[in-house]
Amino acid sequence: MPQIHFNTNKVFLEHTLLKYLSDNRYSSLTNSELNSLASDIIELSNLFTKERKILSPQYLNNKRLRRAYILYFLPSNIYKIHLPLKELSLHPKKILSKKELKILDLGSGPGTTILGILDFFSNQKKRPSLEFTAIDSVAENLSIAKDLFKLFTPLHPECPTLQGVNGKLKSSLKMPHLTGGGVTGFTENINIDASLKTFKINIEKAGAIPQDTYDIIILSNILNELFYNDEKKNAERVSFLNTIIDKFLTPDGSCIIIEPALRETTREMLEIRDSLVKNGFKIHSPCLIDDPCPALSNPKDWCHEDIPWIPPVIIKEIDKLTGLRKDSLKFSYLVLRKDKLSLSDILEKNSYRVVSEPLVSKGKLEFYICGIGGRRLITRLDKDKTPSNIQFQKLKRGDIVSFRDLIDEDNRFKIDKGTTVSLRTKT
Ligand SMILES: C[S@@+](CC[C@H](N)C(=O)[O-])C[C@H]1O[C@@H](n2cnc3c(N)ncnc32)[C@H](O)[C@@H]1O
Repeated sequence: MPQIHFNTNKVFLEHTLLKYLSDNRYSSLTNSELNSLASDIIELSNLFTKERKILSPQYLNNKRLRRAYILYFLPSNIYKIHLPLKELSLHPKKILSKKELKILDLGSGPGTTILGILDFFSNQKKRPSLEFTAIDSVAENLSIAKDLFKLFTPLHPECPTLQGVNGKLKSSLKMPHLTGGGVTGFTENINIDASLKTFKINIEKAGAIPQDTYDIIILSNILNELFYNDEKKNAERVSFLNTIIDKFLTPDGSCIIIEPALRETTREMLEIRDSLVKNGFKIHSPCLIDDPCPALSNPKDWCHEDIPWIPPVIIKEIDKLTGLRKDSLKFSYLVLRKDKLSLSDILEKNSYRVVSEPLVSKGKLEFYICGIGGRRLITRLDKDKTPSNIQFQKLKRGDIVSFRDLIDEDNRFKIDKGTTVSLRTKT
């Protein structure tokens, strides 16, 4: 089975974002511009975390906060969609291999995930044509999404064509990249047929979403904002997702939910997961089991990804000024299917997802893993290290792993000298 290699070096178009937001300047911001940006980023970060209760639904109507979002939150959020897409693409039913994919991005903001999807497919051998529909309640976000979508083409005068047709943009894209904050040119000469339609709609009124069906529906960093002040907010979210998936997802489509890796927002998403499974939906990934989520049985637990990432220079500079840290991609996700296809279809029964950091203590190494039987601690004493279990010390959060001759001690697993550890997928 192929491994997932998550490309962590590519950093999206720092110079293009700066150029877009800073009067066509490619260079870095001045010190005073950087300081005021840093204070806006702290304000927005606090609103996303400890001041969440006062986060207004229209917060991105505020120009300062919108700019802070684009320069600080957008570059890392772009890449979070890659992992669910990579896991979908592993399925032998060739889930993503249609000639044309229709994609609905609910709460698109400035088009973050659209850029991430373009980047994902631009690195594939077979590139579908992509028809995006972006919906957000803030008109300015949608106009930025259109601008950023367009910004890929003028960098290549030889590259055809961007036509505005009744608010619909059609574009043939070539994707420039940066690594570690420096321009390295283009990964390759790529053409992707892509179009973008935008609608300003409050999606809590699902009836307002234009009637159509989509192969992929995305909710990236928005589920936790929906029905926020409603007493029964999670029940509302479940009913909303039921409606959206039922009405707008094709029978072989995927609904991808991405949420911040915060305990509160992730636990809410996991509760929603359990309700949707009860309602008959299949989790394609990350879960390898359909049982109620074991992380919910301990109020301190939650399940999330943490993928290494080299941020662009501007983010490193902002982190120095603010004390924030964006040196990895932290997020939770859920891929839902109507047709019951799942990543577990292609894995052996004894496969488990690593759901913790390595827990290193004197004389032993441990992880939490999740699979059949729930979430359990797995331990290897240093003295039991052998070539057949050497893979254990290379595991990372999110990896999928299988074992032979594992010792089951009921409340935990033990690896001994005879245990074989094999990596199935890598984040
Ligand atoms: C945190 S941003 C996420 C933007 C983008 N999806 C991303 O991952 O970077 C949440 C977005 O959802 C939009 N939003 C929040 N509530 C909404 C609603 N009820 N209807 C439509 N859009 C909404 C906000 O305007 C904002 O652009």
